[in-house]
Amino acid sequence: MQTKVLKPNANNIKLCADHIKNGGIVGFGTETVYGLGANAFDGVAISKIYSAKGRPSDNPLIVHIAKKEQISMLAHQTPLSKKIVAEFMPAPLTIILNKKDTVLPIVSGGLDTVAIRMPKSKLASDFISACGVPLVAPSGNLSGSPSPTSASHILNDLDGKIDYILDGGECEIGLESTVIDVRGEQIIVLRMGSITKDELQKIAPVVVKDSLEDNKAPISPGLKYKHYSPKAKVYAVTKTENMQSEIILLYDKLVKSGANPIIIGLCKYSNANCKTVSSMREYAKSLYALLRDADTSGYDTIIAELVTDEGIGGAINNRLTKASGGNII
Ligand code: TXA
Ligand code: MG
Repeated sequence: MQTKVLKPNANNIKLCADHIKNGGIVGFGTETVYGLGANAFDGVAISKIYSAKGRPSDNPLIVHIAKKEQISMLAHQTPLSKKIVAEFMPAPLTIILNKKDTVLPIVSGGLDTVAIRMPKSKLASDFISACGVPLVAPSGNLSGSPSPTSASHILNDLDGKIDYILDGGECEIGLESTVIDVRGEQIIVLRMGSITKDELQKIAPVVVKDSLEDNKAPISPGLKYKHYSPKAKVYAVTKTENMQSEIILLYDKLVKSGANPIIIGLCKYSNANCKTVSSMREYAKSLYALLRDADTSGYDTIIAELVTDEGIGGAINNRLTKASGGNII
């Protein structure tokens, strides 16, 4: 099979929607990361996603909708979820609710819950509307790799494994959606993203349970898997006053030991291989591209600056901590 990357015009959206209706899977751009979509009610199509990605089958999928009314066919709303939906959706935000029987076990990973997201991106919304059904869509990377934030990333991972990619250009946000459990009276953040704790706190009290330690019996199975990792070894360096000098020391030590490192982050470094960005938003947007580019440019080690936990910083630190496999300095 040859994977075709298609411009997001009306003809191609229809072509891809017909492919979904016929049981196919399609890669498509959203405002967060590229997804790999299938009809949420077609178990055979969904199994193709798991094999294309090499994804563990107990890791449930997010169901993507184009209209708020589609929630009631999938899940039981709560007073809290109704407020969240009214305030935020469409958004880079995924809500967890108790599922209805319409949701297949292959979607929920055997849980009683379902994850629902209404993307803000026009392409994603138009595509889901054209399909006429909700779409399950995990990030379109090989399981364990950084999520794709451009059509070339998803092509790189899944070339020959899927028929079509709808090219939405570079993703606006670049990190996966914030995942929240809204079944109770508190908002439980299971995955940080660009919708921040501060924004959510305006609606209800918020607790963050996004690490495996917080989830001995994980509410969100995805937490237990290795994530977002490039081939290069990643060092995540905590933001302190001495961070830059610590990074230079580490860089020099690695070079002496024969490694070929690159530094990524917000600060500038002279006499060192580095790729730096000028804002937290830009760091979030280009983080996965920086990790992937390090691999393709032949670097074997990435020294990544961590940032302050404010705003999208929490999500950046969360992804870098995971990409480093806990290798934090
Ligand atoms: O931004 C996003 O959310 C992207 C785009 C494509 O929409 N999708 C995405 O999907 O990141 P995925 O499959 O890579 O990550 C979904 C996360 C996983 O950590 C999974 O365990 C969790 O959501 N999840 C899915 N269903 C769940 C459920 N019923 N309960 C708890 N966590 C769930
Ligand atoms: Mg993913």
